[in-house]
Amino acid sequence: PATDHVRIVEVAPRDGLQNEKTLLPTATKIELIERLADTGLKAIEATSFVSPKWVPQMADAAEVYAGIRKVPGVSYPVLVPNLTGYERARSVGVTEIAVFTAASEAFSRKNINASIDESIERFEPVIERARVDGVKVRGYVSTVLGCPYQGEVPVADVVRVAARLHALGCYEVSLGDTIGVGTPAKARAMLRAVAKEVPMSALAVHFHDTYGQALANILACLEEGVRTVDSAVSGTGGCPYAQGASGNVATEDVVYMLHGMGLHTGVDLDRLVAVGAWLAARLGRETASRVTRARTAA
Ligand code: HMG
Ligand code: MG
Repeated sequence: PATDHVRIVEVAPRDGLQNEKTLLPTATKIELIERLADTGLKAIEATSFVSPKWVPQMADAAEVYAGIRKVPGVSYPVLVPNLTGYERARSVGVTEIAVFTAASEAFSRKNINASIDESIERFEPVIERARVDGVKVRGYVSTVLGCPYQGEVPVADVVRVAARLHALGCYEVSLGDTIGVGTPAKARAMLRAVAKEVPMSALAVHFHDTYGQALANILACLEEGVRTVDSAVSGTGGCPYAQGASGNVATEDVVYMLHGMGLHTGVDLDRLVAVGAWLAARLGRETASRVTRARTAA
């Protein structure tokens, strides 16, 4: 039976900022990560070691990672697309990485300039090096409920890619609705199919809220037994290579829902709301979190 503790993987410093027009100063990114750790979050995706030509927002990955005051018991995974990224990450002492691919060929080519198979061939040596170095590896599958370029994505493709990442050694596979088009029954059916091949305890869900379905989808997946949820404070986020994608589900809203259901996260909601409001001010716009809007209304 599933436990009453939900692990939140906070992705705002990475997914949240990778698509921002406003380039935040490195010191502000570091401050964001440190403020997030102060809320009780135990997993904070810090940055990504991708090509700075592809994602200029993450060009300061090494400086950001090196600058964080690391809190014991908190993990700070980073995205790594290839060996170059792995070496850059290791040179600043990274101890957990995330590799990423997709269930849709068309999206994979746009996002990482490689087919799904080629992307996995690139990860193999990365995962092998990580194993030798004692570095934990998480895996992402994007476009699990739809692709901006190919449309429908067969569930069988999601299952195949997720199972492959798990078999290669990813301790957890995060299932990403990159463009936020999923609805609860579809999300549930997709998760159920993947959980036949990968244990539920090794799965996470990652919803973008483009169509306002993210919390409903998360609830459906919790009912299926998932206990790891990715989210971004203030509802920031989006992939620059996924046309029409908008922000991740807001961590404040996820925590509010979970606590309301009697589930535990270890996160202090008041502190989290304060971080969300602070980040929205740094980005110069209104927060996308309904909870933060409600709690900070004048
Ligand atoms: P490419 O151009 O095909 O790669 O990019 P390449 O190997 O031919 O390299 C081209 C140049 O980039 C070379 O430099 C390399 O050295 C350099 P040059 O010789 O031209 O001066 N390079 C690098 N530099 C720094 N760090 C690296 C690196 N790799 C190569 N790691 C590549 C292929 C994968 C690198 C590129 O396509 C890329 O970086 N893509 C990343 C795109 C991205 O970050 N997307 C967002 C993250 S995924 C996401 O948001 C979805 C998720 O949230 C889940 C969901 O919502 O579904 C995770
Ligand atoms: Mg994402």
